[in-house]
Amino acid sequence: MTQRKGIVLAGGSGTRLYPVTVSISKQLLPVYDKPMIYYPLSVLMLAGIREIVVITTPQDQDQFKRGLGDGSQWGITLSYIVQPEPEGLAQAYILAEDFLDGAPSAMVLGDNIFFGHGLPELLADADAQTDGGTVFGYRVADPERYGVVAFDDQGMARQIIEKPSVPPSNYAVTGLYFLDADAPRRARDVTPSARGELEITTLLESYLHDGSLSVKRMGRGYAWLDTGTHASLLDAGNFVRTLQMRQGMQTGSPDEIAFGRDWISADSLQERARMFAKNDYGAYLEGLLKERAAGTV
Ligand code: G1P
Repeated sequence: MTQRKGIVLAGGSGTRLYPVTVSISKQLLPVYDKPMIYYPLSVLMLAGIREIVVITTPQDQDQFKRGLGDGSQWGITLSYIVQPEPEGLAQAYILAEDFLDGAPSAMVLGDNIFFGHGLPELLADADAQTDGGTVFGYRVADPERYGVVAFDDQGMARQIIEKPSVPPSNYAVTGLYFLDADAPRRARDVTPSARGELEITTLLESYLHDGSLSVKRMGRGYAWLDTGTHASLLDAGNFVRTLQMRQGMQTGSPDEIAFGRDWISADSLQERARMFAKNDYGAYLEGLLKERAAGTV
């Protein structure tokens, strides 16, 4: 199979977080100690994906390039595409068609944060399914804010509805989509919704109708965090802080993942640690280098 490629969708005007996002992209805001986009990027890296495109608004692309570069610091290849207007998540597949070049993909939304023991295995299972697609259903208290799964009597997904006023279940579809090489072609067949967008849920429904979409439940042992409002953004930051302070381990660190997988050398990590020498993140990377040198990991 052609190696799966990654898409991080970081477009959107971020109006819900105004005035914070008037002059900066939402996905570059801090979630405690790292830019928001580090977390979804880490998810793709945990899935073993090393060729990734970042889709941004025209005005924000330079800032993303400044923050993430060409990916060589993490042993991955990052490229950039502009989404001229926020015309829906499914449009990402049309914009990324040349980049994908016939490869299957994993797309993650640049504002989605996942945490949970077993995440690498969950991702590996999704990656292993080469035909059709895999998405994840996660139980939330406020499903009307998301794409929502309707299940049949057997518990099989039968419909996915974008922001329904009367949600058919409490299961939201998370912003992580593993789709086969057919996604760009299917995306071109998607017609704009009432709000004028190419909805990701319409694209997913096309797979669902063909019986080729698997909707996996992401259980209560996982955290899927929202960053869509001022309050939930702060909550996400506090969650990360609480976890990291207690465990003395990072979550959502592309540096750690790259080093752990031997995608970068100790020298490269050292260089990153030096860049952040004045803070705990740099100290953490130094710690990883010491542990490796001591042979304790
Ligand atoms: C988007 C999708 C929705 C999905 C959500 C996950 O909504 O349209 O189906 O459940 O992301 O974060 P948005 O956040 O753009 O409103």
